[in-house]
Amino acid sequence: MGIEITPSAEACGAQIRGIDLSKALDEESVAELRQAWLQHHVLSFVDQDLSDDDLERFTGYFGPFGDDPFIAPIPGRDHVIAVQRGAAETAPIFAEAWHSDWSFQATPPIGTCLLGLTIPPTGGDTLFANQHAALYAMPAKLRSRIEGLTAVHSAKIGYAPDGLYGDKDAASDRSMDIRPSSDAVATQQHPLIRRHSETGRASLYSCLGYIIGIEGMEDESALELLLELYAWQTKEEFQYAHRWEEGMLIMWDNRCLLHKATGGYEGHDRLLHRTTIGAGGL
Ligand code: SIN
Repeated sequence: MGIEITPSAEACGAQIRGIDLSKALDEESVAELRQAWLQHHVLSFVDQDLSDDDLERFTGYFGPFGDDPFIAPIPGRDHVIAVQRGAAETAPIFAEAWHSDWSFQATPPIGTCLLGLTIPPTGGDTLFANQHAALYAMPAKLRSRIEGLTAVHSAKIGYAPDGLYGDKDAASDRSMDIRPSSDAVATQQHPLIRRHSETGRASLYSCLGYIIGIEGMEDESALELLLELYAWQTKEEFQYAHRWEEGMLIMWDNRCLLHKATGGYEGHDRLLHRTTIGAGGL
């Protein structure tokens, strides 16, 4: 049986069946998956039973590993982090704000893979927002205000010592191994509208949070514009809500999506293993 691709009825996302990711894939299958990924932006592989070796091998089909700062890898691995939360944990949900992974880097990861190991019975969906769709549907007036602008990105709101995941958070009951650092205050610029490095399609890139300002614009005006943009780019009509099942692997495209975690599973453990796909020349 060949690979079966079922698009979601939402703004992006497709379910993939008919492939066993615990085995090495041939070139043809990888090319087919890459095409599906470029078309649907989020792929979810159901009915899998994968180890960290499988996760790493799968990631490697799509590029080199990304560089994951501020979160320690799990013991024995250099490129796998645990996104986890204990049943009784009180620290705020990790990544519960829209973002594109590590957009503050000079060469951010093109994609992310996330393997669901312990999945709560309710809640804990991952939401995605299609940034091609958000750009194409944008009112001309708003688009004219962002055309040609360069965004200033930084990890400081999250990972600086006084940030959301800073020293205070490290002293909480958070089970994730987050390592805040003064390196987080560094800034990096990217155009607000970018062309996808493989498809060439225009897209909004990242959002307020990792974006902390706009080059050449006063902070107050930049914040006002970024807030307006955030409200637009995260509208429900651009979203896909991913519901997890144990053993499921998903991969998404950071170049044209925002994503965020959600809560709603108090009293239950949640554990996923994550890798990122570096740009590797794309
Ligand atoms: C992430 O942003 O990598 C975490 C997503 C999630 O926990 O659902």
